[in-house]
Amino acid sequence: MYRCAVYPGSFDPPTMGHLSLVERGLFLFDKIVVAVARNSAKAPLFSVEERVDMLRESLAAYPPERVEVDSFEGLLVNYARQKNASALLRGLRATADFEYEFQMAMVNRHLEAGIQSVFLMTDYRWLYISSTIVKEAASYRADVSEMVPPPVVERLKKKFAV
Ligand code: PNS
Repeated sequence: MYRCAVYPGSFDPPTMGHLSLVERGLFLFDKIVVAVARNSAKAPLFSVEERVDMLRESLAAYPPERVEVDSFEGLLVNYARQKNASALLRGLRATADFEYEFQMAMVNRHLEAGIQSVFLMTDYRWLYISSTIVKEAASYRADVSEMVPPPVVERLKKKFAV
């Protein structure tokens, strides 16, 4: 049976942790739709279009039938239904992620019982990184080139150039 998962997030910006999760998810799913949320409450550093572009460039090695990059507005479960996805994919790092992820998974299950939340762990190398930490480090012009893919390094340099 053909299985598609939506991997939603803010991706502001995408990190090596996100890419690792896509790679792992492809062991389980035929297709992964990486979906940038348009209505995230946080004030983003990058526009949705910039985030979609960075993800597309960073994931260009995968064929389009296996990885798609898109954006969505409104409820995640509605979008996942539209995409005929059977699962929502999310990454777990430390225990700090658990409560928020647990809450989201329960709400999403309440809204759509037919779509399962699936959690995978990122590579241990990326356990400590987050988009927030990367942005903070880059704002002080720290070298973040091992934490994010090259298209993101370039964009961060431009954002924080004096
Ligand atoms: O990377 P993030 O910021 O942790 O991603 C959070 C995201 C985008 C997955 C979440 O906020 C979301 O699903 N937003 C869409 C609206 C929605 O369906 N919310 C959950 C049920 S109220």
